[in-house]
Amino acid sequence: MSKTPSGAVPPAHVAIVMDGNGRWANKRFLPRVAGHKQGVDALVRIVQVCADRGIRHLTVFAFSSENWRRPEEEVSGLMSLMMSTVAKHLGRLEAQGVRIRIIGDRAMVSDKVRAAWDEAEQGTAHNSRLNLNVAFNYGGRWDIVQACQQALADGLRPEELTEERLSGYMALRHAPDPDLFIRTGGEYRISNFLLWQVAYSELYFTDCLWPDFDEAQLDAALADFARRDRRFGLVKGNPAGAPSA
Ligand code: IPE
Ligand code: IPE
Ligand code: MG
Repeated sequence: MSKTPSGAVPPAHVAIVMDGNGRWANKRFLPRVAGHKQGVDALVRIVQVCADRGIRHLTVFAFSSENWRRPEEEVSGLMSLMMSTVAKHLGRLEAQGVRIRIIGDRAMVSDKVRAAWDEAEQGTAHNSRLNLNVAFNYGGRWDIVQACQQALADGLRPEELTEERLSGYMALRHAPDPDLFIRTGGEYRISNFLLWQVAYSELYFTDCLWPDFDEAQLDAALADFARRDRRFGLVKGNPAGAPSA
């Protein structure tokens, strides 16, 4: 298994709220969409670093179900950027062994955006080194509701609906829950990202704006994670299931 620079075993799954693109651009008197473009470059760099560190799953928040409330110009800029990113970077990501999945509500986006998603998913479906899940038009509450809808459509009876069964309908059913949840941009909130899946994630917040997030920033987050004591409700130093008294 790969090791991080500190020698620790890496988290299997890292989730990132890539926040701060707009402020990065504002500081440079640039339009907000210029910050989003830099944000894509940061993501491409971080994907490579995650693969090198042996991280198996990376889930990034690219566009929330609430981001439709932004000015039309910014929303259409983000949609165009989604498509141009696939065109520009798909070949490189495919060659790096990255498997791309888009998670989110597909109903509301244009046919062109959906076609770009299909291309990204189908073109990388054979890869398994790093699973890159891009949350686009995603909301944690939407995810829970769509999972319940699927379970009901499958005819599950109330008593059959367990946490495990419901997890099997969630957008990230192919991945373990995130071990490490990172938010850049200085805000201390989840903003309707992976509500169900972060139940036991370690949370890491940094003031770094997403376009500035680089290898050193990721390693700092991984080093911080390596120092965490994950207890999952157990008592420290006590083996699973053993009484503590
Ligand atoms: C995150 O950056 C990217 C998206 C939400 C699409 P922001 O655009 O939210 O950047 P700030 O928070 O305004 O700086
Ligand atoms: C969260 O960032 C969504 C993404 C990073 C895609 P926002 O900038 O939209 O979150 P709020 O509005 O500050 O909570
Ligand atoms: Mg923001």
